[in-house]
Amino acid sequence: MYRLLVTGGAGFIGSNFVHHVIAHTDMHVTVVDKLTYAGNRESLAGLPDERVAFVRGDIVDAAVIDELVQHSDAVVHYAAESHNDNSLNDPRPFLDTNIIGTYTLLEAARRHGRRYHHISTDEVYGDLELDDPQRFTETTPYNPSSPYSSTKAGSDLLVRAWVRSFDLQATISNCSNNYGPYQHIEKFIPRQITNVLRGIRPKLYGRGENVRDWIHAEDHSSAVLAILQRGTIGETYLIGADGEKNNKEVVEIILEKMGQPRDAYDHVTDRAGHDLRYAIDSTKLRTQLGWSPSYGDFDRGLAATIDWYRNNEEWWSPSKDSTEAFYASKGQ
Ligand code: NAD
Ligand code: DAU
Repeated sequence: MYRLLVTGGAGFIGSNFVHHVIAHTDMHVTVVDKLTYAGNRESLAGLPDERVAFVRGDIVDAAVIDELVQHSDAVVHYAAESHNDNSLNDPRPFLDTNIIGTYTLLEAARRHGRRYHHISTDEVYGDLELDDPQRFTETTPYNPSSPYSSTKAGSDLLVRAWVRSFDLQATISNCSNNYGPYQHIEKFIPRQITNVLRGIRPKLYGRGENVRDWIHAEDHSSAVLAILQRGTIGETYLIGADGEKNNKEVVEIILEKMGQPRDAYDHVTDRAGHDLRYAIDSTKLRTQLGWSPSYGDFDRGLAATIDWYRNNEEWWSPSKDSTEAFYASKGQ
């Protein structure tokens, strides 16, 4: 049986990927996750014990990682400090996990000759003007803005160097903004959904004109599996579902779907250095690997996501007060 090691598998996108792999392949998955504030064991509830093992561990811990990589056929690396706002507040954990953690995994994969897939973000390319006809492609120069995105960019460059210098059997994917079940409520869409469920008005940073290119986490997972199974070693693939929307539009759709007036939100302090727009051209992935998204309709995916948060209050409720207290301290 093919043995997959998934780092950060108790986080948002990692747990969606584990559910996807169990449903669509016969692989065995070992999750290694530190269970930071962003990790939740409950996100893996209901999966079969004979197919999924869980190890609480830090990817910076070379001994733990060496042992786990040695006993795996491939590594899919999701674990990261992932939130831009936190990186503005305290960058250090981003350097440790995103840079040193990636280095630790690369060295273990090199030592044991293992297949490695690196999960990254479109934010490594910086941002676009609202009226720029260009979208990001695999050849767009790196130009990250935040402590978070600069550490992700650094980790991507480490992977490229390990491929070139040590023939590491690696691929990289850079994906746009994900939404769906199991996303921490610090993030934009689940923060606003759970605000409405709690009777709090949604909060828009600045004027709300910033554009994100939304993709359902299920579609991100199917793309990563396609790259793992059919991708060319050494290549980078951009993942996106043509889902550009500005933040104001997203909040208005959430309010409407939840039975509230479309203007029942507040403008709050903007994010420092706030990237204006991300947009992905995923032609390479679609033409070379035959991938396409199944949630082409953002409205349908968003409605399902609202239902998920409505029906899973016990999953998000314990972190709501502390999350809102953090934002309130920054006027957001
Ligand atoms: P998340 O914050 O929800 O989950 C991160 C997981 O990593 C958590 O379970 C956490 O406990 C774990 N973790 C953190 N530090 C660790 C460490 N040192 N050792 C082991 N585990 C550790 O993040 P996410 O949104 O699911 O993002 C996952 C990956 O996808 C990240 O690499 C991120 O850069 C990338 N990505 C995210 C998006 C998005 O829209 N969220 C888009 C593109 C790429
Ligand atoms: O593009 C991929 C990236 O998407 C990933 O690499 C990151 O890990 C992920 O967090 C996400 O980054 P963003 O910074 O785009 O996501 P966030 O959910 O924090 O914010 C989305 C947009 O919404 C952004 O323009 C800021 C804005 N926002 C956010 C929050 C939390 C608000 O207007 N109000 C809010 O309350």
